[in-house]
Amino acid sequence: MRYITVDNLRPGHKLAQNLIASNRVLLLKKGKELSPSTIEKINSLGYQGLYIDDEISEGLEIKDVISRDLRIKTWNELQLLCLNVGANTTGGIRRNLSTLKKLSNSMVDEILHNRDTMVNLVDLRAFDDYTYSHSLNVAVLSIILGIELKLSRYMLYELAIGSLIHDFGKMLVDKKVLNKNGKLTTDEFELVKKHSEFGYNYVRDYSDITYSSKIVTLYHHEKYGGGGYPEGISGDSIPLYCRIVSVADVYDALTSDRPYRKAMLPSDAVEYIMSGYEDSFDPVVVDALTRKVAPYPVGTCVRLSTDDVGVVVRNYEESGMRPRIKLIENNKLTNKIVDLFADRSTLNITVQGIVNM
Ligand SMILES: [Fe+2]
Repeated sequence: MRYITVDNLRPGHKLAQNLIASNRVLLLKKGKELSPSTIEKINSLGYQGLYIDDEISEGLEIKDVISRDLRIKTWNELQLLCLNVGANTTGGIRRNLSTLKKLSNSMVDEILHNRDTMVNLVDLRAFDDYTYSHSLNVAVLSIILGIELKLSRYMLYELAIGSLIHDFGKMLVDKKVLNKNGKLTTDEFELVKKHSEFGYNYVRDYSDITYSSKIVTLYHHEKYGGGGYPEGISGDSIPLYCRIVSVADVYDALTSDRPYRKAMLPSDAVEYIMSGYEDSFDPVVVDALTRKVAPYPVGTCVRLSTDDVGVVVRNYEESGMRPRIKLIENNKLTNKIVDLFADRSTLNITVQGIVNM
């Protein structure tokens, strides 16, 4: 299987996974061959892309770092939390946070189990509920970075909870401003920035979450070189979990479609974050990101400097820009392998490397 964006879906592509709505209703079954009308339906549901099976991706397995079931459970719990915050039901919020704690534990376990997997960050990102998918992705990436930074099991767990609730305060910002389809006025931007304080003030009194987790809501927009918000603190004065979540937060935002811009490619997003080395982000965390995020995820079609086209079948942590590739000829996958990691000749992926097929 491989992941393609919805604009590249064609009749005849087969779904490689069940397509499930946020309310757990099965929309389309795995194996379903897409028709023009099902493609239209997928488009109208707001999906960015999905996994398909076709001749190019035959035999290609893509491992996710957490199970689909856990993704859906966590996504649903975040949605419930949002509803309870909206209705201000304290008991409900307490229950949601306690469930999220358990789910955080499972996330850490599953990611530790798959620790050798590089991020092929493609997921259930769909619908207009960016906040839940975003919080979930930020948590997954933060845990991966935490493992790379050799945090203990308990610290990973604290980091997981902090990252899941990092944008909690956004639930307390006027939805009209938050979802505005256009440039924010200065006042509106100042209001959105308040989400850090709103979130922290709200969760501060929940004694069953540790201070180290809760503080992530307050300081995840601080910058390593100073000048962030709300307090403008810098360097190691910013707690470690906040420095990790800050990188994961920006990476996920950049690689998501937003009302005001299209998603960036993983390689471009990493490049962008590297440009904020020391200034915006902790260099140690940025280094961990470059080791763990595959610029060309498995299943991506790329063009080589020889003009050959192929599909990425394996990534190497030591050299993200030089994956193992299976060549495609006449729109069919061949058995010809080009391993850019093993072969350090002048052969490489072209600058405009990704090919839509
Ligand atoms: Fe935020």
